[in-house]
Amino acid sequence: MRKLWNVFSTLTALAILATVMLTVPRTPLNAQGKGGGAKAKATPFSAGGAGVVSAYNLKVLTADNVELTMQNITLALGVGCIHCHELNDLSLDTKPPKAKALKMLEMVRDINAKFGDGATHVTCWTCHRASTKPQVAKPAGQ
Ligand code: HEC
Ligand code: HEC
Repeated sequence: MRKLWNVFSTLTALAILATVMLTVPRTPLNAQGKGGGAKAKATPFSAGGAGVVSAYNLKVLTADNVELTMQNITLALGVGCIHCHELNDLSLDTKPPKAKALKMLEMVRDINAKFGDGATHVTCWTCHRASTKPQVAKPAGQ
């Protein structure tokens, strides 16, 4: 009887553990930091409140359009801010994807300029479709 009780309580404990693990939301690896603690200094906008920017270091964008562009490129590539940024200072140019993204911002600006009507025809989404790897060839079997 005692043995049976031990088995039963072990199973109950496992069931509770499983429920907790399934219900507690897990933080995705690329999740943006959650505010907390001291508010970032001079943050025009930030990665969920955790990102700090010491000063703008803009080469293509302007202070007026950087926030909207960041939201758009994050969605277009299906990544979090930290794919390209160091959270301790968003203006640092240390991560390779940030350098690549800068080239792509220039490329998209140049493509749209070629249309000559001032409108936006091509965006990051045009190629990326929520992925960091756009398809460059037709997938096999399609
Ligand atoms: C795909 C890469 C990429 C992602 C994702 C991204 N950024 Fe950026 N971000 C850049 C690039 C490139 C620049 C610099 C643009 C320029 O120089 O004109 C920049 C500039 C900035 C700046 C101005 C600092 C500076 O470099 O002068 C801030 C602030 C910023 N991003 C915040 C964010 C936030 C917040 C997110 C998430 C919502 C985000 N970024 C997502 C690439 C990215
Ligand atoms: C004309 C199609 C096209 C457009 C538009 C485009 N990209 Fe890309 N992007 C690519 C391709 C193709 C690659 C893969 C590059 C390679 O093969 O090295 C890529 C790669 C990247 C990467 C590197 C992926 C990684 O692993 O981090 C970043 C970052 C990126 N693009 C950002 C952007 C941003 C930001 C925009 C919008 C300003 C943009 N791209 C618009 C085609 C495009």
